[in-house]
Amino acid sequence: MLTGMLADRRMMALVDRECAVVVPENEMKQYVVAAHADTLDFVPGDALADWATRHGKKLRGHTLLWNRAEYIPRWLSERYADAPAAALATWLTGYVGATAAHFGARIHSWDVVNETVDPATGALRDTMFNRKLGFDALRLAFTAARERAPHAQHVYNDYMSWDAGSAKHRAGVLKLLERFRAEAVPVDALGIQSHIGAEGDMTTMSEREREWRGFVDLVVAMGYRLLITEFDVSDHSVGGTVSTRDAQVAAVGKAYLDMMLSYRQLEHLLCWGLVDRYSWLQNFSPRPDQQPLRPLPYDAGYGAKPLRAAIAEALKGAPRRASQS
Ligand code: G3I
Repeated sequence: MLTGMLADRRMMALVDRECAVVVPENEMKQYVVAAHADTLDFVPGDALADWATRHGKKLRGHTLLWNRAEYIPRWLSERYADAPAAALATWLTGYVGATAAHFGARIHSWDVVNETVDPATGALRDTMFNRKLGFDALRLAFTAARERAPHAQHVYNDYMSWDAGSAKHRAGVLKLLERFRAEAVPVDALGIQSHIGAEGDMTTMSEREREWRGFVDLVVAMGYRLLITEFDVSDHSVGGTVSTRDAQVAAVGKAYLDMMLSYRQLEHLLCWGLVDRYSWLQNFSPRPDQQPLRPLPYDAGYGAKPLRAAIAEALKGAPRRASQS
């Protein structure tokens, strides 16, 4: 959800009807909450949290440390780049603790750290936090979140995927998850963003699936729970008519969800938006033919698409979770 959507009554009626769990797309990020030095702005996050409370929705928090250089507030980078590491550690602990405490029991699951692994190398990204504090930045964030929001689930969230080009990313995330366990960092779950593409030959699906299961099997063997945190299916390069594209998106989405739902450790399925026209992909990755993308369950006119039916089918066919009665 985005605060801009709150004024769109049809949109919010749809969210109300379709979702049991919601998440703010941007409003709890550091570049919003800590946009200005020495003050924290919870107003946008509170607006969405209030809506969730009023409508009886569970709320996920996203994210306490988006560890990518381009999303760290500029004033923060400028102030701490040459400061002692301990000063940055104090700021980070204070920030995470204050934010987790502010939202308190309203948030049942936090993306504490987001995207700290460099997909090109599998190493930790080159950010101010990692340069100055290394792994301690992550330890501090998870520890502060646990201390100040002990009721919540604490998640490491990233976009490693089943694509062949994602092998280094997957390996890097596995290494990180192993280190969390080895050093008793309080991390409960892996958030698998699941921004997948509908491109490609369906006959290569089993190879992709085999690789991906190898990764997920190792994650659950370490005792992590799983979440799908940001599901969408891009039709960036899928050709043909709108109905061909929608069918391809639905088929790939269904295959992916069937596989993921076969893991009983999977707790949540969140789409990154419900209606195509609000999708981040429209701006970040436009189609070469300039047609609007169709990556979400509802079209621009708020009509349900084949992806909506595919999600419902996948959920209906999924093995029951322990939490279901
Ligand atoms: O609000 C301004 C608006 O006033 C202005 O007119 C417009 C012009 O570009 O920009 C608007 O802000 C944009 C904001 O989204 C709200 O739509 C920002 O420029 C844009 O950078 C921001 O993008 C968000 C992106 O993260 C970066 O924070 C996307 O909405 C959001 O969907 C995306 O989400 C990320 C997850 O957090 C992490 N995983 C990947 C996912 C997709 O990139």
